[in-house]
Amino acid sequence: MKNSNSITDPLEKIIISEEQIQSRVSDLGKIISDYYKAVDELTIISIVNGAIIFTADLIRKINVPIKLDCIKVSSYGNETLPHKKPEIIEKIQTEIKDKHILIIDDIIDTGHTLFEVYKIIKNKNPASIKSCLLLQKSSRLEVDFEPDYIGFQIADEFVVGYGLDYAQNYRNLPHIGVLKNELLK
Ligand code: IMP
Ligand code: MG
Repeated sequence: MKNSNSITDPLEKIIISEEQIQSRVSDLGKIISDYYKAVDELTIISIVNGAIIFTADLIRKINVPIKLDCIKVSSYGNETLPHKKPEIIEKIQTEIKDKHILIIDDIIDTGHTLFEVYKIIKNKNPASIKSCLLLQKSSRLEVDFEPDYIGFQIADEFVVGYGLDYAQNYRNLPHIGVLKNELLK
């Protein structure tokens, strides 16, 4: 049986190796742990599905007490360019008033997704809000909002792996790379 996840080599090129990702995630974990060392508790809001794998690895490198919640947002559908207005599909359940919040996502491209989530969280009056993105696409920001922690800056190419998908495929690749052109429909 053939489906796109069984293709062994779907990538044109790998741009960030598994080792590079793991090393940077450890560094980010240290920086974040250090910044929040004085707080009683940090509430992580993970933007899923894309941030699932990054979140799972990063929170195990954070050594302050955390709570974890997810918000489900759809920005892309099955395409490689974002819809302008991100759609909130599942809301957070946790009470976040007066809590310290760290939003985690896989990638910031135009910034509309992160900014939308930021506004929702800000309306609930938390004590503080920061954001941590594994990837940022250079020169693509369309909103007046800068994330606080970034793993890697990348070129403006559509990438998959380590949580990032194309039509829900390829999230399980341990590295990040550019999909072969013939696999984009
Ligand atoms: P933004 O709203 O334009 O910043 O888009 C961010 C969202 O689009 C991210 O949360 C990702 O889920 C998705 N996205 C952006 N660029 C890529 C990509 O190159 N590959 C896969 N998903 C992407
Ligand atoms: Mg996403």
